[in-house]
Amino acid sequence: MIQKEVLEALNKQINAELESAYIYLAMGCYLEDEGYNGMGSWLIEHAKEEYEHGMKIREFISNKDEKTVFYPISTPDSNWSGPLDVFEKIYAHEQKVSSMIIDIVKLARDKGDITTEVFLNWFVEEQVEEEKITRDIRDRIKILGENQEGLLSYDRFLAHEVNKEKSK
Ligand SMILES: [Fe+2]
Repeated sequence: MIQKEVLEALNKQINAELESAYIYLAMGCYLEDEGYNGMGSWLIEHAKEEYEHGMKIREFISNKDEKTVFYPISTPDSNWSGPLDVFEKIYAHEQKVSSMIIDIVKLARDKGDITTEVFLNWFVEEQVEEEKITRDIRDRIKILGENQEGLLSYDRFLAHEVNKEKSK
């Protein structure tokens, strides 16, 4: 079993991971519509990872013989002003998710729930990676600024990265 408050926090985290997937999917579609197919497909692929994060928590809850709770997922924003705006928001979002994970670790620790704390170690490390990747993309887009040719070349690079990942 999992202590009530910890279980509630884990269930809310599933919702946050699925919400992240929904946000990245919406952003990916927007970037594709704007002609940035590489960035768009990178985000649509990344949405799948967020879904997997949610499923990882679901499996843990189920393995501990507890119930998954389904909360509503809110409609993602749709007012972006270009790739930089999108990736600024993604980086901020990943920072928010990191602090949510840390809060659950603290709660589990406070309740003496070592099993959940150890389970969440993977997420703590994953968030370091997620923040770094999204910050790197944000920085590159920022450096390119108004250089459309550079942006499209970087977009092609990301498309190539996505295809490389898919063919693994
Ligand atoms: Fe995630």
